[in-house]
Amino acid sequence: MDNRQIYCGLCGKADGVSLFRHIREEHGLTPGAYQARCPNAPLFTPAFGEYLRERGIRVEGGKVLSVLSLFGVETSREVAFREQVPGRDDQFAFEPDLAKAVLLSLLANDRILLVGPTGSGKSSLIAQLAARLNWPLRRINLHGETGVSDFLGTHKAKKGEVFFQYGILPTAMREGQILVLEELDAATPEILFSLQGVLEDGGVLTLADNGGEIIAPHPDFRLVATANTLGLGDESGLYTGTNVLNASHLDRWNVVYAVDYLDSKREAAVVRDKAPELAHSLVDGMVKLAQAVRKAVAEEQLYTTFSTRCLLAFAGKIAPLGMKTALEATVLNKLPANERSVVRELAQRHLPDCEGAL
Ligand SMILES: Nc1ncnc2c1ncn2[C@@H]1O[C@H](COP(=O)(O)OP(=O)(O)OP(=O)(O)O)[C@@H](O)[C@H]1O
Ligand SMILES: [Mg+2]
Repeated sequence: MDNRQIYCGLCGKADGVSLFRHIREEHGLTPGAYQARCPNAPLFTPAFGEYLRERGIRVEGGKVLSVLSLFGVETSREVAFREQVPGRDDQFAFEPDLAKAVLLSLLANDRILLVGPTGSGKSSLIAQLAARLNWPLRRINLHGETGVSDFLGTHKAKKGEVFFQYGILPTAMREGQILVLEELDAATPEILFSLQGVLEDGGVLTLADNGGEIIAPHPDFRLVATANTLGLGDESGLYTGTNVLNASHLDRWNVVYAVDYLDSKREAAVVRDKAPELAHSLVDGMVKLAQAVRKAVAEEQLYTTFSTRCLLAFAGKIAPLGMKTALEATVLNKLPANERSVVRELAQRHLPDCEGAL
């Protein structure tokens, strides 16, 4: 056998040391479907097989599996190319205990609700786990106008033909993706009601609008939701448009994890990664400023929090815009006038080197 080339058992063409891309692009086949058709044709050269083994990748039952160890949890996932897998951010800072708990819940097929303040990393935590697990993920924001037709599906007409266009929930259920429902606490009662059955263990979806079609979940389907409030409505006044989730709905989420802002060391490391040009002492001061604002919010002296998202935006604008304009554009101008002066004072205190510039 040629150790540098592998030839397709269907068409005889070669595509380098493995056929994964060739069979997908030319024949629309997964490795398993290819092996079923050509049981004696190898998928890759022996040398490439050795390379894969060294990296913890193995082929089992026609599937290419990558053995992963994440946060001390061993798991294996299919390596096959998958659309919808989020991009990996190597600078994302996991809080290990939380990440491990969410990972175990994902593997256990728990219905996961992540609750925490804006910009604390709820959406990115689940996306970054999915990126590492090679797990396709879809998101839908349930705020405000998301209707049941976007969610479940609706009849459409094309060239005189009427057909049912599946919404995001049945699509994720059939294709085996993680579906992230953003802002669950802002969802309409109709959407929450449509979820009830699916939230059950192995729960199916009945599409009344499509003749009562029943959608059974793919084994890889997962349901995750994020919310800013613990489904108890907005006590703080910070999050407008949120609703009270009733107890029977909340009870259907197996696990609720609180996602808070990172501790100061981790948050400073994230900022330094994203804006390496900034002096470490400045970054420490910026993190202290964010924490001082969060503390003031907790004590109800301020109402607008200072998220990690906001901190990163601020950090990224200091070099191009200068400290004063960066602070105004990314932080102060988003605040109501009465809060602006308080935050400006906190900035003067925590960013002492920049006092002149402020
Ligand atoms: N742990 C982290 N490591 C690196 N970056 C982070 C982390 N947490 C948050 N971020 C940054 O902050 C941004 C906001 O995070 P994310 O969108 O996940 O927050 P969220 O909690 O979902 O917010 P919201 O409630 O507003 O939807 C991300 O784009 C990311 O850049
Ligand atoms: Mg989010």
